[in-house]
Amino acid sequence: MDVSPFEFQGPVPPDRFQGRDDLIADLTRRVTERRVTALLGPRRFGKTSVLQRLAADLTETATVYVDLYGVQTMADVATRLDRALVRSDGPFATSAGSIAATVGIDLGLVNAEFAKPRREQPDAATRLTQLLDVFLETAARVPALLVIDEFSDIGRVDNAAALLRTQLQHHYRDVGLLFAGSHPSTMRQMFTDREQPFYGQADIVVIGPLAAATLHAIIHDGFATTGRDAGSVVSHIHHLAAGHPQRSMFLADAAWRHTPRGVTADDHWPEALAAARAQIDVFMPAIHDEFTVSEQRLLRVLAHGQPPYGAKAEQLGLTPGSATNARKQLTHRGHLNDDGSLVDPLFADWFRRTLPLA
Ligand SMILES: Nc1ncnc2c1ncn2[C@@H]1O[C@H](COP(=O)(O)OP(=O)(O)OP(=O)(O)O)[C@@H](O)[C@H]1O
Ligand SMILES: [Mg+2]
Repeated sequence: MDVSPFEFQGPVPPDRFQGRDDLIADLTRRVTERRVTALLGPRRFGKTSVLQRLAADLTETATVYVDLYGVQTMADVATRLDRALVRSDGPFATSAGSIAATVGIDLGLVNAEFAKPRREQPDAATRLTQLLDVFLETAARVPALLVIDEFSDIGRVDNAAALLRTQLQHHYRDVGLLFAGSHPSTMRQMFTDREQPFYGQADIVVIGPLAAATLHAIIHDGFATTGRDAGSVVSHIHHLAAGHPQRSMFLADAAWRHTPRGVTADDHWPEALAAARAQIDVFMPAIHDEFTVSEQRLLRVLAHGQPPYGAKAEQLGLTPGSATNARKQLTHRGHLNDDGSLVDPLFADWFRRTLPLA
């Protein structure tokens, strides 16, 4: 059975990952030089894929990959680190397991400790501190890189960022440290505020859209290896998705599904696009409804390529004050790029199709 070569749900596995050579080389150099690094970018731009590919490439270094998505408590943070230590490369995990045992921690079972009645639970901050010590002690024996993905979510847990800083700031020369996250504004605030101890000193690396040449290679390869011809569909995709990685792959997948073996994708692009849009149309209204009225108006104006303070904005009842405020909010929450364009090009496409401007 033919399987689509275009991944658009979750990270691209390292063995199928293509492109981003310069970014990977840049990150490799920084973590090898032990520079504390923060990888910033919008949602679904391929941060996790890059981190996993980097980990796969660094064969001499064990990667401990911590995902902080959705953490709400110190116990959550401790549990995620525990899980990451257990899942790290064999020798590192084994060594970490024995070091943890010396302080009475069963690696991999920290989650169970926090499921016990409250009075039997360990103090979460103490557990986290101990686990960080376990990591650092193990890293002194086995070269390691600590990757913390979705780092911005740590902001929801009081004192967690400070605790991490206290533990890590004197050791950053001994281990690689790489933070990644979306909500670029939150990440940027944290990592570019030079007053912020430790985090403010990090190197910032931004992940941008996929280059046209990369997209071309990925899509042509994907079609060719499955007996199809991508024809000129790449330019349609690039035109619509503007290098947004997940959106580009979503459209490439739609094009591929509508192209039988031995056929050129161009012949079927109109049906593919209609099917992709139909899928988008199912959930966009619910997403749209989550925004305030001013935000909806601003998104609409910007999706049409109009300025936030022009005649069209005024026509929609968007005052300059509410436009400024909405823009700040939407940028902060990762819906708008700094240049005022929508991060999700298919959301912009939805606005243009559903809510035209007179
Ligand atoms: N190098 C790449 N080549 C092709 N597509 C890619 C690449 N990197 C990412 N993508 C596309 O982007 C999607 C999201 O990738 P990934 O989960 O790594 O992004 P992310 O920035 O970590 O997202 P999130 O913000 O949801 O955590 C993938 O499913 C894939 O469609
Ligand atoms: Mg991710």
